[in-house]
Amino acid sequence: MNEVAFRTVWWEAGAVCLLDQTKLPRERATVRCTTVEEVDAAIGSMVVRGAPAIGVTAAYGMALAARESSMTDPAALLEELAAAKATLDAARPTAVNLSWATSRMLRAALETADVPVSEVAARLLVEAHAVREEDERACREIVGHGAALLRSGARVLTHCNAGGLATAGYGTALAPIKTAHALGKKLHVLVDETRPFLQGSRLTAWELQRAGVDQTLITDNAAGHFMRRGEVDCVIVGADRIAANGDVANKIGTYTLAVLARAHSIPFYVAAPTSTVDMSIASGDGIPIEERDPAEVTHLAGQPLAPEGVTAAHPAFDVTPNDLVAAIITEKGVVEPPFDTHLRRVMDAASAVR
Ligand code: MRU
Repeated sequence: MNEVAFRTVWWEAGAVCLLDQTKLPRERATVRCTTVEEVDAAIGSMVVRGAPAIGVTAAYGMALAARESSMTDPAALLEELAAAKATLDAARPTAVNLSWATSRMLRAALETADVPVSEVAARLLVEAHAVREEDERACREIVGHGAALLRSGARVLTHCNAGGLATAGYGTALAPIKTAHALGKKLHVLVDETRPFLQGSRLTAWELQRAGVDQTLITDNAAGHFMRRGEVDCVIVGADRIAANGDVANKIGTYTLAVLARAHSIPFYVAAPTSTVDMSIASGDGIPIEERDPAEVTHLAGQPLAPEGVTAAHPAFDVTPNDLVAAIITEKGVVEPPFDTHLRRVMDAASAVR
């Protein structure tokens, strides 16, 4: 890839370090978190965002909880870790990677029953590093499967940011695009700006520009216009949680795109690691949808857009029913309908190697 590398989440000198995504693309600043409260605040305020990146950050948050603890009794330490998990899980309820990562960290802590309490923090840091490395590896593997779906000359539409910024590295939906481009395929990406947080215009456009990929930034409501004119060959997005039947929760506006894509016979792809698949939830109806501060809708960069006192709603995600999804690109391969049986097979294979 012909882009200068950046890091999204990393551990340095006893702190979880985050590239501050609220400041991009104008400024490259780092936020250092040394307490669970700081990690919780960074996730909630979207200094770090994107389901896999949130999961990795929360894993480091659990390691910090163990480091911060003054408990000498294993049971008391576990209680503190369970409380840290509850705090972190509540920061962003839709992205399952978060609770997936904190559950994994809690399980790792439970496995330290015979380890002196003073060593638990070091064990958990090793586990958090593993969560980060596995996410990076999963994204690299998604690249291989996803890039094959993109033919040279394809015009691809994407929504929100599912790039390296949203993961420990590479990205999900953007990774195959960047790699296909680096391999010499000629691609053009239509980038939805993604109101109201503008992950498309601020973050995806920044990533694609650094990778040298041809792109055009559009308003979210222009997508149908370009599809009707025959200027979109496929849609590819990430996911925050995929239910057992293949229903997909992703950034608000994704469902609208999927309906539009169906109306124009355009394939609609979802790229996500298996850590985003939640087999405990039968369908999208069971996925909790995060409601964010309406001020993110009524205001832009702190400036009011709407009349003072107006009521605004701000669901941050929506659910796309599985019948609108052509395929889900995971690190284990491209999963096609029927998703209930095919996802089960992939998830069983994934848990067998974990
Ligand atoms: O609110 P955000 O920016 O965290 O939402 C991000 C998305 O919806 C992404 O598409 C999703 O997390 C997948 S990122 C690989």
